[in-house]
Amino acid sequence: MRAVTTTEPGGPEVLTISDVPDPRPGPGEVVLDVAAAAVNRADLLQRMGLYPPPPGASEIIGLECSGTVSAVGDGVTDWSVGDRACALLAGGGYAEKVAVPAGQLMPVPDGIDLVTAAALPEVACTVWSNVFMTAALDDADVLLVHGGAGGIGTFAIQLASARGHRVFTTAGSPEKRERCVALGAEVAIDYREEDFVEVVRERTDGVGADVVLDNMGAKYLDRNIDVLADSGRLVIIGMQGGAKAELNIAKLLGKRGAVIATALRSRPVEDKSWICADVVEHVWPLVESGAVEPIVGNVLPLEQVAEAHRLLDGDGNIGKILLTL
Ligand SMILES: NC(=O)c1ccc[n+]([C@@H]2O[C@H](COP(=O)([O-])OP(=O)(O)OC[C@H]3O[C@@H](n4cnc5c(N)ncnc54)[C@H](OP(=O)(O)O)[C@@H]3O)[C@@H](O)[C@H]2O)c1
Repeated sequence: MRAVTTTEPGGPEVLTISDVPDPRPGPGEVVLDVAAAAVNRADLLQRMGLYPPPPGASEIIGLECSGTVSAVGDGVTDWSVGDRACALLAGGGYAEKVAVPAGQLMPVPDGIDLVTAAALPEVACTVWSNVFMTAALDDADVLLVHGGAGGIGTFAIQLASARGHRVFTTAGSPEKRERCVALGAEVAIDYREEDFVEVVRERTDGVGADVVLDNMGAKYLDRNIDVLADSGRLVIIGMQGGAKAELNIAKLLGKRGAVIATALRSRPVEDKSWICADVVEHVWPLVESGAVEPIVGNVLPLEQVAEAHRLLDGDGNIGKILLTL
C-alpha cells in the first residue's frame, strides 16, 4: 500500500509517499481502507522526531481517519467488511490502509460524508473526555476554551454551547473571532490585545470560568488559574506555549481548584474504547441533528501532505485539515 513515510526527522519536506506492506488485522482489530485522514499538531511533532509513537503503535503518522472496513480480525463481532467508520488511532492514518482496535472505531454519523467524518474522532474524543468526563462540565458551568478557531476549539465551542453552557474563547484574528462567535461562543477574546482573565471575570460578575480547556500550557498557567472560578478545573491538553512553568499553589488552594493534564494517544485501548462508546452515545446525536458540525478548513490529496503540514503550522486555517486518498 502507499503511505506517508519519513527518511529522517525534519521539516515538511521529509514527508514522502512510499510503498509499505499492508497491515493485517490482529485479534480484536479491523483493517480500514482509508478514505481520508486528518492532520493534527502532534503529527508535526512526530515528523520532527519530538513525539515518537507509543509502544506497539504504527510508525506511520496519523491519529485519525475515516474509511471502509476491508478485513476483520479474530474476536471482532460488531464490525463487518463494507462497514463505513471513522477511527481514533495511535498512529498509521496517513496510509491507504490501517489496522485499528475495533473499540476505537465509530460509525459515521448520519448526514456526514465519509471524507468529512475523518475530522471527527480526535476532536470529539478529546473534547468529550476532557471537558465532560474528566472536568465534568455541569449544569450552569461556564467554559473557557483557548484556541477557539482550531480543530479542538471549533468543536468544543459548538458542543458546550449545544449543551446549554456559556462559552468564552480566545482567537488571534478578527476572522477567527467572528467564526468562533458564529459557532456559539458568547465572546471571542483577542488574546493579543485583551486580557482573557479580565474579560471573563467582567462577563461573569467576577466569578470566572468553571472549566478551562487549554492548549497553551506553561504560557497561560498562571492566568488560567486566575480565571478559574471557585472549585474550577483547568484541563491542559497542549503545550503550544511551553511545558514548564511555576504553579502558584496558594492561588489554587484558595479556590479549591484543580489542574489536570491529559494525553489521549498514550491511553490504553480499553480507555479509548469506552471514550469512543461514550462519544457515540452522547456526541453523535448532536452531530446528526446538525447542532454540532465538523469544521474543515482545508482538504488536500495525500500527495500534498507537506503542504497540509505547512498550513497547520501557519495561522490561516480554521478547524481541521484533511488528506484524501
Ligand atoms: N492531549 C490530547 O490528548 C490532545 C488531543 C488533541 C489535541 N491536543 C492539543 O490540543 C491543541 C489544539 O489542537 P488543535 O487540533 O485544535 O490544533 P490547531 O487546529 O492547530 O489549533 C490550535 C489553535 O491555537 C491557537 N493559538 C495559537 N497561539 C495561541 C495563543 N497564544 N492563545 C490562544 N490560542 C492560540 C491557534 O489560532 P490563532 O490564530 O487564534 O492563534 C490555533 O487555532 C494542540 O496543542 C494539540 O496538540 C491534545
